[in-house]
Amino acid sequence: MAKITAGIGCSHVPAIGAAFDQGLTQDPYWKPLFDGYPAAQEWMKKHKPDVAIIVYNDHGSAITLETIPTFAIGVADEFQPADEGWGPRKVPVVKGHSALAWHLAETLIINEFDMCVMNKLDVDHGLTIPMNITCGLVDEWPFAVIPIAVNVVMFPVPSGDRCWRMGEVIRQAVESFPEDLKVVVFGTGGMSHQIHGERSGMINTKFDTAFLNDLTKNPQRLRKIKHEEYVTDSGAEGIEMVMWMAMRGALGNNVHEVYRHYHVPASNTAAAVIVMETGKETSPKKKAAKKKAATKKAAPGKKAAAKKVVKAKATKKKAVARKPAKKVAKKAVAKKPAKKAAKKAVAKKKAAPKKVTAKKAVKKPAKKKVVKKK
Ligand code: DHB
Ligand code: FE
Repeated sequence: MAKITAGIGCSHVPAIGAAFDQGLTQDPYWKPLFDGYPAAQEWMKKHKPDVAIIVYNDHGSAITLETIPTFAIGVADEFQPADEGWGPRKVPVVKGHSALAWHLAETLIINEFDMCVMNKLDVDHGLTIPMNITCGLVDEWPFAVIPIAVNVVMFPVPSGDRCWRMGEVIRQAVESFPEDLKVVVFGTGGMSHQIHGERSGMINTKFDTAFLNDLTKNPQRLRKIKHEEYVTDSGAEGIEMVMWMAMRGALGNNVHEVYRHYHVPASNTAAAVIVMETGKETSPKKKAAKKKAATKKAAPGKKAAAKKVVKAKATKKKAVARKPAKKVAKKAVAKKPAKKAAKKAVAKKKAAPKKVTAKKAVKKPAKKKVVKKK
């Protein structure tokens, strides 16, 4: 049976693609952004999905203002790169997974998401840049792709909650597909940005950070964000984040963050990549290994002191309770400090990338809620 194993939220700023394509990733302007990508690429290499369902938006490359489907799904065997601005990128052709795509189309339509079925769909930076960000520069993409295009270019656009509910049906469809497939879901676009008008260049790191945090901590809050709030607080093009909601809706309840990078600015945009896995945080085997490593790492002095305290407590217990005192003491000594140390080690591990994030986020004057570009 097919299974959704991870979700990725990823910006798709066209200038990031141009920097990739022109070999500018180590340029002083771009380096701090691109430094955040190898870790995501390493994760992808290890994770090895068979298929990526990429919820993205077209920018007038394949879908023009003449006909605007609210939701469209690409069911073809392959999708040609196309683009406005810098023109079509010289990236590999995107291979589809027609069987799963048709199953998704059917399940979505039966469940009242009336998809526009695209037998031909050229894919622009909204889809190919997140692929480069998570796969690097490759001769061939390492997984098949099912593009799901969402209209976020002309109002009325679907709400974040509507996208979330589409994500739930995407999950239902994947889980009812008989082939054994490892599926990841992307939501692309964002974060805060506005690329036209008076507020052009606005960034809101506070909004973005809360959004990133709540993808795992409080996703139900994100479901309540209305169009007006996206546009007011994250900029007119910040509305692209509704596509992250489709991704998040597809992941279900049991989700944990494994990697995050956030940088301002990338062109006119706050750029992020976040990786979340579904299922238990770590396998019991890995958890035990982590515990062992953490205990080893813990300072011997501290460890001994902790043991002493616990031992003293255990002895006290022993004196009071006659029954399984030995067991209690043993348990207390073995488990307590290890748990604490493991927790500490995990917290430390978690804190490290966040430190970088915070530092980078404040690079731009982030004191004001809305920062206007000069
Ligand atoms: C730009 C365009 C986008 O589609 C986007 O999501 C972010 C930035 C731009 O032209 O800068
Ligand atoms: Fe965009």
